[in-house]
Amino acid sequence: MKKLFLVACTVLVAVLLQAEDGYRLWLRYDKIDDAALLQQYRNTISGIQLEPSSPTLSVARQELLNALQSLLDKQITSQQTITGNCIVAGTPSSSSIVKQFLSAGNFNLGKEGFVIRSTNIEGKKVTVIAAGSDIGVLYGVFTFLRLLQTHQHINDLSITSVPAIQNRILDHWDNLNRTIERGYAGISIWNWHTLPGYIDKRYIDYARANASIGINGSVLTNVNANALVLTKEYLLKVKALADVFRPYGIKVYLTAKFSAPIEIGGLKTADPLDTAVQNWWNEKCNEIYALIPDFGGFLIKANSEGQPGPQGYGRTHADGANMFADALAPHGGIVMWRAFVYDVRVQKTNEHFEEGKTHEHSATIASDDRFKQAYNEFKPLDGKFRKNVLIQVKNGPIDFQPREPFSPLFGAMPQTQLMMEFQLTQEYLGQATNLVFEAPLFKEVLVADTYTKGKGSTVAKVIDGSLNNNTVTGIAGVANIGNDIDWTGHPFAQSNWYAFGRLAWDHDLSAAQIADEWLRQTFSNNSAFLDPAKTIMLTSRETLVDYMTPLGLHHIMGTSHHYGPAPWVDNAGRADWNPVYYHKADSAGIGFDRTATGSNALSQYNPEVQKQWNNVNTCNEKYVLWFHHVPWDFKIQPGRTLWDELCYKYNTGVDSVRWMQAAWNGLATYIDQERFEDVRMLLGIQETEAVWWRNACLLYFQTFSKMPFPANYEKPDHDLEYYKALKFPLAPGIGGNM
Ligand code: GCU
Repeated sequence: MKKLFLVACTVLVAVLLQAEDGYRLWLRYDKIDDAALLQQYRNTISGIQLEPSSPTLSVARQELLNALQSLLDKQITSQQTITGNCIVAGTPSSSSIVKQFLSAGNFNLGKEGFVIRSTNIEGKKVTVIAAGSDIGVLYGVFTFLRLLQTHQHINDLSITSVPAIQNRILDHWDNLNRTIERGYAGISIWNWHTLPGYIDKRYIDYARANASIGINGSVLTNVNANALVLTKEYLLKVKALADVFRPYGIKVYLTAKFSAPIEIGGLKTADPLDTAVQNWWNEKCNEIYALIPDFGGFLIKANSEGQPGPQGYGRTHADGANMFADALAPHGGIVMWRAFVYDVRVQKTNEHFEEGKTHEHSATIASDDRFKQAYNEFKPLDGKFRKNVLIQVKNGPIDFQPREPFSPLFGAMPQTQLMMEFQLTQEYLGQATNLVFEAPLFKEVLVADTYTKGKGSTVAKVIDGSLNNNTVTGIAGVANIGNDIDWTGHPFAQSNWYAFGRLAWDHDLSAAQIADEWLRQTFSNNSAFLDPAKTIMLTSRETLVDYMTPLGLHHIMGTSHHYGPAPWVDNAGRADWNPVYYHKADSAGIGFDRTATGSNALSQYNPEVQKQWNNVNTCNEKYVLWFHHVPWDFKIQPGRTLWDELCYKYNTGVDSVRWMQAAWNGLATYIDQERFEDVRMLLGIQETEAVWWRNACLLYFQTFSKMPFPANYEKPDHDLEYYKALKFPLAPGIGGNM
């Protein structure tokens, strides 16, 4: 009986260990399920030679051993000498073989690159994973493991890989009370209360996952910052995380609240030109670097949405950013200064910061088209920032919409180092209930041509520094990670974290390739699964655009929480927080005229770019309502008016979600039931929400178009008043910056 119980327990433990709850992300390392391939791999990998002479090499060796043992289901030995079919990994200082190998070749691996090569050494066939630095070895190890997990041949490898962008960073909008601004996957994984004493295993797995895709920085705190994180008590907690992340090549960064010298420093001002303020930040940096010698630097949101900043003292963004830059420069840190501003208001200065009421403002001055404001404020400052400043620009001019044209700033500041900010968390993309693979969105922006230096001046070349010869480069993704067991709330949202890291390393990768490798590692290598699953992923973003914001509509989501449709809202605190500001529907038509007859935002682009969008007859319909107020009866397609096209798009979006459901249902037999069911249920919610979006938007816009729904479409099951009355006071993602 006792024996039976023990057997039952062992089985249970085994089952629990294998739980497909998503926790393992794309690092599952399950035994290779293709017998022939397994045999090949076993033949090619007999053991590993990797001298663990540093913490990074030590985690690289451990990862390789654990993964290989599990993937190959065989004991792998860690050996001192070379034998046939072993893996030799290391740097010139950790391995004389690697030293010889690298000096024989003409490699230009920089600080993080690596080589993986099948070769012969001392007459023995081996696989070399070599790098100039320890972290390069770890990246090489993860790449090698990816090859195995995606069932690639490994007999004749010749890979050289170097990241395109230096700083590849996740921005966590996590508050110190563990709520997450725009977080849809639970609360923050940083448990500030139990740090620094308690190191959650999750911190290590977070670092592993990031390192596996080349992410090398983590901003721990919300851009709507809390100065408390800069106090000694919290810096010790930050240090504990930095210590965990260091072997994985991840630097920590913090958001710096501009008013911190007042709030926690006892000063009367935060004026960046005041020497007492400058000294305070210098001292603060000295204190931080004494604890965390490789601290990355600060991310700063200033004079934006109520955050204090240099303009409160009559200073510019450059004055503010440069003050931080000077304090960080002696330590090698960088400043990421955000260009997300749309607020020409002059903020009151110190008194109200002293009172702690940082969200109050003096009277508002009527402002320009929000689209234009970041450019208006930053363009004049081109060339005025220090060498260790990056200006962090959101991909589009407004705010992470399902589709935006690229931000005109990317083509406008050739003497300034610009970095990209993408949003992985799906604030405006159906949050955690909608399956949306974002790589196509990221790629669309990266390949967009600014024409600044002629054809081919892509956004990717601006941010990888090659267009303007930058010395510091960066890319950030606003994280979609929380403490949900699967990290991201929706199993497929993991793919957005993955895609961000892969593109940050190599922006030439295609969305299809990223989807393919993510699916293989996360779910299955079976092509009967892969093909439909890949189609679901690759069409998902366009599907969302169709049922949410087709034809260039934007920012018509519910106020504040941004959940669901609310195109009718016209009473928010500021004109440009209202959906009606963005769609401008009236009896004549719909859309925002941003040509010369309207706000002329188009003039912020190179003439070649303007040409693509400034004529309503030739503008790609994907962008048309971004730039034109289009009459309802305008013939946008042969035989279809704008109104008909709008109806067509919204209905296509709903149909496509139903297609996704059917396609997913056909995949049940290829993957575990747990994740299959998760996705199936979420697709059900997505279908309901797509129908809701379509009905609410079309009914509302119909009050202006006064045109009928084409006969062949499903009719709304409620009236407009029903949709307008829906309220979601407890929708997730609005935590308050505590
Ligand atoms: C959006 C988002 C805010 C966030 C802001 C930012 O407006 O809704 O929650 O703080 O972007 O990027 O700073």
